[in-house]
Amino acid sequence: MNSDVPILRTKGLGRRFGGLVALAGVDLTLPAGRTLGVIGPNGAGKSTLVNLISGHLKPSTGSVVIDGMDLTGARPWRIAHAGVGRTFQIVKPFRGLTVADNVAVAAMFGPAAVRSPARARREAAEVLDRVGLGGKDALSPAELSVADARRLELAKALALRPRLLLLDEVLAGLRPAEIDPALRLIDELKNDGLTLLIIEHVVRAISAISDEILVLHHGRVLTQGPPERVLSDERVIEAYLGRRYTRKNRS
Ligand SMILES: Nc1ncnc2c1ncn2[C@@H]1O[C@H](COP(=O)(O)OP(=O)(O)OP(=O)(O)O)[C@@H](O)[C@H]1O
Ligand SMILES: [Mg+2]
Repeated sequence: MNSDVPILRTKGLGRRFGGLVALAGVDLTLPAGRTLGVIGPNGAGKSTLVNLISGHLKPSTGSVVIDGMDLTGARPWRIAHAGVGRTFQIVKPFRGLTVADNVAVAAMFGPAAVRSPARARREAAEVLDRVGLGGKDALSPAELSVADARRLELAKALALRPRLLLLDEVLAGLRPAEIDPALRLIDELKNDGLTLLIIEHVVRAISAISDEILVLHHGRVLTQGPPERVLSDERVIEAYLGRRYTRKNRS
């Protein structure tokens, strides 16, 4: 790995669905070890951006370069093997497997390719502890609360041992008291050297963990920069944050 090469670079990235332009002309450079927060109104194109990077959608325009390798349009497994993990906004567990086996399967088939099932299970137990699901390993995913189902998504992504982790609203559905422990976990991941791209609607959370914030609006980049600057930008307040947020934070 060459540390001068950004772990993620997109150029002119875009995606159309029929006549709808979901994303257009997104240029993004994410150096290794940094955390980029992505915010924007519903339908702004945030999940589409993640899906294009992870290979779950093919771009209509532009390129995706991961760690110097052009992986534009590559299949998800290839992108996972390049070190990219992700969570889904709509959780996608294997419903026939226990919580522990969901994570063990990820450990076995990800880039880390843990060959022995026993070792994959041990790794799964460690990851489950880390995300706060210790003790729930034998449950079926259907028995999990909304918040725990999101923790399972995160555990599956971490079991791949990614270098770049794309998190699509992992804090959604958490109670206020659960947000701080989740932020501490994300901080630990940053300290471990992981590069993160995080989509989040909880503005307090995203500004606490992001080095920079990118704002999407109607599929385009409205602005990108340090959290304080972006969150006080009049265009961002107008398009996304609204006046209630401004009043609360200025008083
Ligand atoms: N598979 C698809 N087929 C057709 N339209 C789609 C598809 N996926 C997304 N879109 C549309 O593309 C636009 C961007 O959607 P996207 O899911 O990326 O938004 P988002 O910013 O993640 O929104 P949210 O905050 O609600 O999750 C929306 O208008 C959406 O309806
Ligand atoms: Mg979304």
